[in-house]
Amino acid sequence: MINVENVSFKYKNSDYILKNINFSVNDGEVIAIVGKNGSGKSTLGRLIAGITKLKEGTITIDDMNISKDIKSIREKVGIVFQNPENQIIFNNIYDELSFSLRNLDKSEIENRITTSLKQVDMFDFKDKDLYALSLGQKQRIMIAEILAKNPKYIILDEPTTMIDSYGKEKIHDIILNLKQKGYTIICITNLSDEILLADRTFILNNGEIVAEIKKQELINKYAILEKYGIKIPTLLNILVNLKKEGIDLDIEDFSVSSFTTAIKKELNTERKSI
Ligand SMILES: Nc1ncnc2c1ncn2[C@@H]1O[C@H](COP(=O)(O)OP(=O)(O)OP(=O)(O)O)[C@@H](O)[C@H]1O
Ligand SMILES: [Mg+2]
Repeated sequence: MINVENVSFKYKNSDYILKNINFSVNDGEVIAIVGKNGSGKSTLGRLIAGITKLKEGTITIDDMNISKDIKSIREKVGIVFQNPENQIIFNNIYDELSFSLRNLDKSEIENRITTSLKQVDMFDFKDKDLYALSLGQKQRIMIAEILAKNPKYIILDEPTTMIDSYGKEKIHDIILNLKQKGYTIICITNLSDEILLADRTFILNNGEIVAEIKKQELINKYAILEKYGIKIPTLLNILVNLKKEGIDLDIEDFSVSSFTTAIKKELNTERKSI
């Protein structure tokens, strides 16, 4: 469990970027953090990953205090950034993934690399050079690199902002698969459709968490997104409009298959009532 308590943050010579942030993330949850540019999302992500030093407030991860156990916390939390090009060190995929595993024995390194490449559907590319991959594939390698370190918590800071739509979908599938495997994920995003992947969404505005919306509340609380300048995710918008027309689709999640099933059910009910 991640616990963020009374966290405030300012850079040297800046005003407060984060103001009294409080929330917790349960194991196995996917949390989306959304907010306009400059609202403090990345700063919050870097504080939780232990990359930026916490000065005010407390962050505990599985009862370890980030100000005391930074080394253990860095082993538990992996972070992936927006631009994979800025993170790649080696050209060879094996070198890239094994670099931070170099203290492990060779067979363990092989195991971890194989498993993590399979988790991001990139195993077939293992002998390719990184420069030959698309940006989306490079980002999947960056996710594999984090997974190979066996983290429990994964922070994704706008992982798909630079990636084409096909690559985005692949990464969305990876996020959902990782959730199924029990990883806890914080996805910082400015793409509203990624809200639909999350169990809960936090809206950050001017350094403050101004709203928390659970997945099942989105249909009734969508206006809060609009209020803070966040576009309503397309599928949610369709649901909202149908509801206004008196059609209340009973969907399990925001997947296309869930929509198809709900629409078929609705059409069958209508036919029967005619
Ligand atoms: N190293 C730094 N020194 C000073 N100010 C900074 C630094 N990094 C970020 N800031 C400022 O802190 C504020 C919050 O930045 P942050 O990157 O956390 O926001 P964000 O929500 O991730 O924005 P974006 O959507 O553009 O990624 C911005 O005003 C930014 O200019
Ligand atoms: Mg950012």
